[in-house]
Amino acid sequence: MIILRTIAQTTQQVGFLRKEGKTIGFVPTMGALHQGHIALIESARRQSDVVVCSIFVNPIQFNDPVDLQRYPRTEEADLNMLGEAGCHIVFIPAVEEIYPEPVTDTYDFGYLDKVMEGAFRPGHFNGVSVVVKRLFDIIRPDLAFFGEKDFQQLTVIRAMVIKSDLPVQIVACPTIREANGLAMSSRNLRLTQENRAIAGNIYRILTEASRMAPQATPEKITEWVYHQIQAYPEMQIEYFSLCDSETLLPVDAWQPGKPARGCIAVYIGGVRLIDNVEFGG
Ligand code: PAJ
Repeated sequence: MIILRTIAQTTQQVGFLRKEGKTIGFVPTMGALHQGHIALIESARRQSDVVVCSIFVNPIQFNDPVDLQRYPRTEEADLNMLGEAGCHIVFIPAVEEIYPEPVTDTYDFGYLDKVMEGAFRPGHFNGVSVVVKRLFDIIRPDLAFFGEKDFQQLTVIRAMVIKSDLPVQIVACPTIREANGLAMSSRNLRLTQENRAIAGNIYRILTEASRMAPQATPEKITEWVYHQIQAYPEMQIEYFSLCDSETLLPVDAWQPGKPARGCIAVYIGGVRLIDNVEFGG
């Protein structure tokens, strides 16, 4: 596995492989890797000749400086995991490499980046879009792999790719979970054992809610989810939204054949967790 820290080296290495006719699969990450990330690497391996992974804790997507400071950094363990998973190239740039100048680029995705995560984390999706666009410009992948765990991020990135007219195919990969259903996340490292067990209820509640459709209305299901989460004094619900899987517009009536997504954000012991499941409609 080749480890690169500069844009110049990375452009050159990947350019060389592309000239040889190899297809490039790219997995952007912020490190603190777990099986969710590794599943993306495995998908990339199956679908492309060369797998490039980036590890970059992107400061401009953190609206809370404390969250940025506390973000886990585990480079050595990450490199071991990537090596074992068969990743070919790891790009680990310093902040000054990606942002030599203050960032002024702004994206407007209309509704997509204003709701849910966008509403509670102002500027977050602009930061995500800026960094993913820069990484795409450096690596110029044929395919890029993202997890459904961050469903809204996936939607925003697809919109960014269309807006910027980039020749990259975005591949969505299913959420990888702990045995108790908790969606794997780098933030889970900050949960106590007890809270980790309680947080397993988030997925249980979402799954039960998805089975209530289409008999129960979206409004009734939403009420039910709030009520269920609030039954745990350790958990504080920030939002639950039933939305159209493509436009993210709120769904107030089920439409056959039109999948919806139930997206949730919950605080537990000061740790913010997000998750989502499909609602068949
Ligand atoms: P990060 O949180 O490190 O996630 C990197 C990729 O792994 C994302 O596509 C995310 O959706 C996926 N992922 C995380 N947990 C997962 C799980 N349990 N199952 C499946 N996939 C999972 O998302 C980011 O970094 C950043 O915003 C980034 C896109 C790298 C831009 O900075």
